[in-house]
Amino acid sequence: MELAQFANTAYLGSIVLFILALGGLSHPETARRGNFYAMLGMGIALLATFAFITGNHAILIGGLVIGGATGYVLARKVQMTQMPELVAILHSLVGLAALLVGFATFLGGEGAAHLGGAELSAAEVAAEKTIHDVEIYLGILIGAVTFSGSVMAFGKLSGKIGGKPLTLPGRHWLNLGLLIGTIVVGVMFVQQSADGGGLTPLIIMTVIALLFGIHMVMAIGGADMPVVVSMLNSYSGWAAAATGFMLGNNLLIVVGALVGSSGAILSFIMCRAMNRKFFAVIAGGFGSSSGGGASSAAAGEQGEAVSVTAEDTADLLAEAKEVMIIPGYGMAVAQAQHTVNEMVKTLRAKKINVRFGIHPVAGRMPGHMNVLLAEAKVPYDIVFEMDEINDDFPKVDVSVVIGANDIVNPSALEDANSPIAGMPVIECWKGTTTIVLKRSMATGYAGVDNPLFYKENTRMLFGDAKESIEAVLKGLQQ
Ligand code: TAP
Repeated sequence: MELAQFANTAYLGSIVLFILALGGLSHPETARRGNFYAMLGMGIALLATFAFITGNHAILIGGLVIGGATGYVLARKVQMTQMPELVAILHSLVGLAALLVGFATFLGGEGAAHLGGAELSAAEVAAEKTIHDVEIYLGILIGAVTFSGSVMAFGKLSGKIGGKPLTLPGRHWLNLGLLIGTIVVGVMFVQQSADGGGLTPLIIMTVIALLFGIHMVMAIGGADMPVVVSMLNSYSGWAAAATGFMLGNNLLIVVGALVGSSGAILSFIMCRAMNRKFFAVIAGGFGSSSGGGASSAAAGEQGEAVSVTAEDTADLLAEAKEVMIIPGYGMAVAQAQHTVNEMVKTLRAKKINVRFGIHPVAGRMPGHMNVLLAEAKVPYDIVFEMDEINDDFPKVDVSVVIGANDIVNPSALEDANSPIAGMPVIECWKGTTTIVLKRSMATGYAGVDNPLFYKENTRMLFGDAKESIEAVLKGLQQ
């Protein structure tokens, strides 16, 4: 057997493990096993590449040491709340890699070298070269869009760039112009490459693609960022698959396609969760600004928010029969999940039925709340999706909203002019009493005022979520 065949056999094992990993990651109970499969798959892939593919071990070891050390330090340092930013910047690296591999393949004439052969006619060699050129062109195109788009997403998610959508006049025409531009330049590239040239159109397309990536993400408002993150995840997969085609590497092609398609499915699920159309997301302009901004003057028109103490909250909870906990981004910031679990245990010991209601885009990444609750060992059977519990609120005595804001905003349903109009939300205000734990009256990620805070049956428990829950727990244990 040739070395490449050994490598392909090992790659097949890796691919199976990656598919098992995706299956495992679909549920918190099996997620740990899924991660293990993924690590094993990646380990086998690295070993096979090392043993069978490259002769240049020094470069590979150098890359492994630098990449591995950087990844290790980042993973240890990063806060749970910074994960989406980290994911965005990692996507940008996949895009950059595809872009660089594309240029290296083109300039080095690699790949083209394996074209042709005694049994192929000149026309067949020319056709193969065209296909290879298209691979290079698409690889660089997707890589450049992924790179600049992900860098912008990193900027937005980390608050370095404002979340307000950049809605340039005629931006749809601009996008259409850029798309037509890339097609025209693509035709020029293939023609010139056949005559031994083509670098200039390749560079022009790269600049267009980089600008498009920037413009695409800049036009997207805070409220649509979850979709953008999963969309860029998908792009990074297609960029990796394109790299696989350029390098003739089966593993990269399959794994890239897995990431690309799972990211696309996730984007679709996100869109459905937010009641948005995918193309409307790409068109941008939804959600006015990004998190933490102060509430606008409109808040004053809605009446006064009524605050409550931790002791009174404990009394309300102790008297309740049905309690619903709705966690959001603030629970992650406060790292309150362990204290929340202690409170839940205490309430359940008092024979109170406690459930969690999880919004699909609560927090800052898909499954963010589920991960935190699993970490705190909250039993899975009391954790429910939004759709499973939304009709139950009329029977709920007390809803405890822990650091959530946009996902419990009634204006999404009641105000057609709201920037988040149409997004499904957890309808806790239909219960007897809602207690909202947050530090101030500030808006959430989408920068939209929340009328929930001013409803008659809402009480605000101000302060850091962890400290507030600790105080409530104390009250419950007395
Ligand atoms: P947000 O609407 O962002 O609200 C979080 C609230 O937590 C804030 O209003 C903040 O109010 C409060 N908070 C922050 N730190 C706190 C602390 N230490 N203690 C107590 N409260 C604290 O969060 P959400 O309701 O979970 O909604 C998620 C939002 O993020 C949606 O708009 C969604 O579209 C967006 N998003 C989601 C994702 C994914 S995939 N899940 C990705 C990107 C963006 P104070 O400042 O007053 O405390």
